[in-house]
Amino acid sequence: MLKIGIINGPNLNMLGKRDQKNYGNLTLEEINHKIESFAKKEDIELTIKQSNFEGEIIEFIQQNSSKLNGLIINPAAYTHYSYAIADALRDCPIPIVEVHLSNIFSREDFRAKSVTASVCIGQIAGFGYQSYILAIRALQDLLEKKLRKIK
Ligand code: DQA
Repeated sequence: MLKIGIINGPNLNMLGKRDQKNYGNLTLEEINHKIESFAKKEDIELTIKQSNFEGEIIEFIQQNSSKLNGLIINPAAYTHYSYAIADALRDCPIPIVEVHLSNIFSREDFRAKSVTASVCIGQIAGFGYQSYILAIRALQDLLEKKLRKIK
């Protein structure tokens, strides 16, 4: 069974209330529920974490990456300036996909820069909660190919 971690950064606990034009009206709990039911069908075990604190996100990465096969991260505003999270991700031995609910390239200029994306295998942005499901599919494909090669 594939084990995938999902990290959501600051203010994503406020989804449903915050900036519905960019993020839609689903709460984080509702989004997690949709992601969980997709993962269940695919026989994937998810570990989901949200934090408003940079250090807590870094500790989650450090403490969990060796127990997981892949990682999905929406670093939220940290995307644009956290070299500390980028360094933690760089040291991660597993493939990482960066996701965003909104299309960060069609918004304010500061959002178009990600300091974390270059240490990930790719980035998916602009598809709302589907961004997470697309990221799971991408990791699933990559990890299953890897397993087939090992066998
Ligand atoms: C976000 C985009 C970021 O620019 C913003 O700070 C967020 C959410 C997204 O999912 O679209 O908090 O990561």
